[in-house]
Amino acid sequence: MREDLKNDFSSAYHKEPAHTYFSPGRVNLIGEHIDYNGGLVMPCAITFGTYLLVSPNGANVFRFKSLNFDDIAEIPLQSSYDKDGNGWYNFPLGVISYFTQHDKLLQGLDMLYYGDIPIGSGLSSSASIEVVTAFALNQLFDAGFSKLDLVKLSKWVENSFIGLSSGIMDQFSVAFGEKDKALMLNCDTLDYEAVDSNLGDYVLAIVNTNKPRKLAESKYNERVQECQTALSALKQELNINYLCDIDTRTFDEHSHLITDPTVLKRATHVVAENERVKLAANALSSNNLPEFGRLMYASHDSLRDLYEVSGIELDTVIEYAKTNKNVAGARMTGAGFGGCAIALVKADKFEEFSKGVTEYYTEKIGYAPSVYQSSIGDGVRELFD
Ligand code: GLA
Repeated sequence: MREDLKNDFSSAYHKEPAHTYFSPGRVNLIGEHIDYNGGLVMPCAITFGTYLLVSPNGANVFRFKSLNFDDIAEIPLQSSYDKDGNGWYNFPLGVISYFTQHDKLLQGLDMLYYGDIPIGSGLSSSASIEVVTAFALNQLFDAGFSKLDLVKLSKWVENSFIGLSSGIMDQFSVAFGEKDKALMLNCDTLDYEAVDSNLGDYVLAIVNTNKPRKLAESKYNERVQECQTALSALKQELNINYLCDIDTRTFDEHSHLITDPTVLKRATHVVAENERVKLAANALSSNNLPEFGRLMYASHDSLRDLYEVSGIELDTVIEYAKTNKNVAGARMTGAGFGGCAIALVKADKFEEFSKGVTEYYTEKIGYAPSVYQSSIGDGVRELFD
């Protein structure tokens, strides 16, 4: 694979790449729509991700090519950069923009990207592109940012350059991910613990609904806004910074302050989901996979009914999972509105699950999902031969 990519780089730029970097994508085991509410999440980096091959070009220009998209761009070095339409290269361009704004001296680069994460599938292909670019620039130009700085600046790209009000989970997990570990991340303090993701007899299946994610961004920003509205209402009586600063009991005592029924549903999800993450962490550390699975189903139901970010495609996958005795639990992962579901499947029954879910889904939805067995991998890094 890496040799092939080097050949692609050589045919694109007529020279060898100087460096190859890789940043993974992620799945979130539980704790959905929690990060921007200051609570606990449990993501892991996966072995799919984004490769970046790069070489300085001695010209004052950034050349962007991708093996996944047709559009290419050549953008001269400038003192500031603006988003350029909706091209994929806005993600690296946003990173370049941040470095420039912070007076980091850059030089022209020839860059080739290749991602084996299914694009737009909710496995954080965008965070992966941002973080791999930030990591590369930091190293190539000796910019002196810490890994946490790279995470924060990549989030800035997503929020301020691209315009999605996302939290920090995706960038954090693709940067700090560790093989066979889930990250228990507190999204308020950014303290985290890498916990053994010991799945016993089970493996993690990823089911991509292959549903195009239209309008996902505006719906996402709408949810963020609804949580802000809930928080402002609760602040009339509570001294809190985030919805996740309270437990379900305190929430129940003050929920009358939230007058809009939709906003109330959103906040009810957030507070209960945050508690589910704590229970899930205990279940994982005591190898109680059935309990972990039960919490996954509960998380999905809440995202479907209260947070309303699922949809017929994701629900169909979960519906199938519930009929299969070799599945401990399943849920949508990531922002929702299409994208992927994950399922805990008995290792020796993975093929059977894959076939079963494909048939069930295709029959109901009219096209097939893609099913992968996921391995949990390391975070962003340079790759050496
Ligand atoms: C997207 C965002 C994350 C997070 C999830 C939902 O992946 O980028 O910050 O909010 O949705 O949990």
